[in-house]
Amino acid sequence: MRKASNWNDLPAVTLLNDTLVRTGYRSDGAILTFNIIAPSMKRWKPHSHPFDQIVLIIDGHLILEVDGKGYEMGPRTIARVPGDVMHTGWPVGGAPVLNIDVFAPARPDYLFLTEHQTDFRQPEALKETFHQEPSQEEFKGEIVADPKGLVYNWADLPTEDVLDGQMTRSAFRGDDCLVVFNKLKPTMTRPEPHSHPFDQLVMVVEGNMALEVDGEVIECGPGSVTRVPSNVPHTGWPLGNKPVLNIDVFAPPRADYLPLASYQKGFANGR
Ligand SMILES: [Fe+2]
Ligand SMILES: [Fe+2]
Repeated sequence: MRKASNWNDLPAVTLLNDTLVRTGYRSDGAILTFNIIAPSMKRWKPHSHPFDQIVLIIDGHLILEVDGKGYEMGPRTIARVPGDVMHTGWPVGGAPVLNIDVFAPARPDYLFLTEHQTDFRQPEALKETFHQEPSQEEFKGEIVADPKGLVYNWADLPTEDVLDGQMTRSAFRGDDCLVVFNKLKPTMTRPEPHSHPFDQLVMVVEGNMALEVDGEVIECGPGSVTRVPSNVPHTGWPLGNKPVLNIDVFAPPRADYLPLASYQKGFANGR
């Protein structure tokens, strides 16, 4: 069985004296960056971009600075930085941080990170970049004691039962993407394949699953990232006897799952 790509093995760039290692993976409408942050990484200068940014923390703790205030994010949390809002971040707690950022649309200045995905063409010229700049300046603002409303624990998101309770699903949205968390029970059996006119990024955080794409079965373990192209039949089910936590990213945000994100403020319900 072919193994899926792993975000730890993709071509990486290193930044800020090797304190940040970054890989990337894209879909038609979004780009993911995987950031391995050393505990010694300093605070970057705050920056902004006209598109929003979804910040997922897999491991470790960091302070996400948004509009001058600091919000602590721990393992398995998610937050959204709206477009045009100044933000930055830095690790706290002495352990490395693994963070995944989601940008939709797929920002052109990061597409070079996805050269390994040969089914996409690279842009010929860059019109605009939004690169961060290092800074030695300490943060002087307030750390918000209760980051609720900006930082969400994955485990606290509203969930719905799917496939007669064989899995549960929750979601978190940005302007142009939807991040979906699926918890698969080990006893879940293979659903019939389906397809949709938009593509799908499939990541696995814990457990092992089989992802069947156009008849080929791909083994996906922790750290795996795969793209299912649009209109291609696919399905997935757990391998082994552990539950699976899988994160899918859809850009544009698929309308049939949007009600799952209606708890988020700042979006018209169902838009
Ligand atoms: Fe940013
Ligand atoms: Fe799908």
